[in-house]
Amino acid sequence: MSANMSDLGLPPDSAFALQELLTATDVVPRSMPPSFYTHPDLHKIETEQLFVNGWVCVGRLDEVPKIGDYYTLEIFSEPLIVTRSDEHVVQVLSNVCRHRGSQILQGKGNSKRFTCPYHRWSYALDGSLLSAPLVDKSPGFDKQQCQLPSFKTHTWMGWLFVNLSGKAEGFEIQTAGLNQYVENYHAEEMRSIGASTENWPLNWKCLAENFMEGYHLTPVHRDTLHPMTPTRLCKKIPGGEGYTGYKSHYNDSFSGRVQVHPDMTEEEKSMSMMVWVYPGFVAAISPNSSVYMSITPTGSTGLQTRWDVIARDAVFESGEAEERLEFARAFNKEDRERLLDVQAGLASRFASRGFLAPPDLEGTVWDFYQYMAKAFIK
Ligand code: FES
Ligand SMILES: [Fe+2]
Repeated sequence: MSANMSDLGLPPDSAFALQELLTATDVVPRSMPPSFYTHPDLHKIETEQLFVNGWVCVGRLDEVPKIGDYYTLEIFSEPLIVTRSDEHVVQVLSNVCRHRGSQILQGKGNSKRFTCPYHRWSYALDGSLLSAPLVDKSPGFDKQQCQLPSFKTHTWMGWLFVNLSGKAEGFEIQTAGLNQYVENYHAEEMRSIGASTENWPLNWKCLAENFMEGYHLTPVHRDTLHPMTPTRLCKKIPGGEGYTGYKSHYNDSFSGRVQVHPDMTEEEKSMSMMVWVYPGFVAAISPNSSVYMSITPTGSTGLQTRWDVIARDAVFESGEAEERLEFARAFNKEDRERLLDVQAGLASRFASRGFLAPPDLEGTVWDFYQYMAKAFIK
């Protein structure tokens, strides 16, 4: 192992496995060592390098349809406000008061201004300070220094992404080559059915990898997803710099869905396009509804997932929206049970690296390892 690898603080066996990926020829595709999913030092490195410096999905534009609509969320302990400050502008602001640090808002709602509950400083929808009772008479008080930080955003098919450090490479650069697989689904015309936030005692990579490999569909989702999208019909697409994906084809009985966008090809109508935009956005984009998760780490064996099902108007009109959400809850529960077992297994002193299934089934996991190797091995 070279000196700069240990400087990054990666566990040595994970560092070795990642370096081997980049430098050796004929590497046999195997899973990463257990330390990759358990080591406490990785949490901080990943949070800063991948998430704070990368693009993280915070929800959908249609969750704030009217001016003044807002909701709050926390990603990697950073309290945020998502708000529509103007008809055409959705902003992500810090939810930390510039006076003495109180959180300003909770939950969601609609407001003309955001007022801190502690000493009643109030902010405009764009984060600028409107009033600071009595402090405005203090010597040296400068309103201009009291603007809530506003972060860099990018909208992709109705999903809102944020980059907290302002240092991420352009979203379009990261996802170059991906749009051809997803654009005909017109996810920007879909609407949120109901976002939820959950915390799971699990490493974030276990859930993201699981969402994005089709190998487990048949064994784990025997009565839910398998009848529709069995393992044997999965077909990987080539991964790019900042993404990977696969086509999850439907059994014949599920093809030819109605109420879809006219741009869609026959193949697209009979499959879900599974996409992973690194680090933590995963989605199953389907003809008239889609399931997505924004997965963020909370610790070495803790994650947050903010997830939702979004759907075309026709799904709401036909009264099926709640059913779609229930279906997603059912297969998420199946994944959760299995993955908590995996996390326990990875802590075993006898856990080892495993051989991966062929690319159509677990090639997305292999692509993700390449991304991790490029991010961490200099
Ligand atoms: S902390 Fe917000 S007004 Fe004092
Ligand atoms: Fe699953």
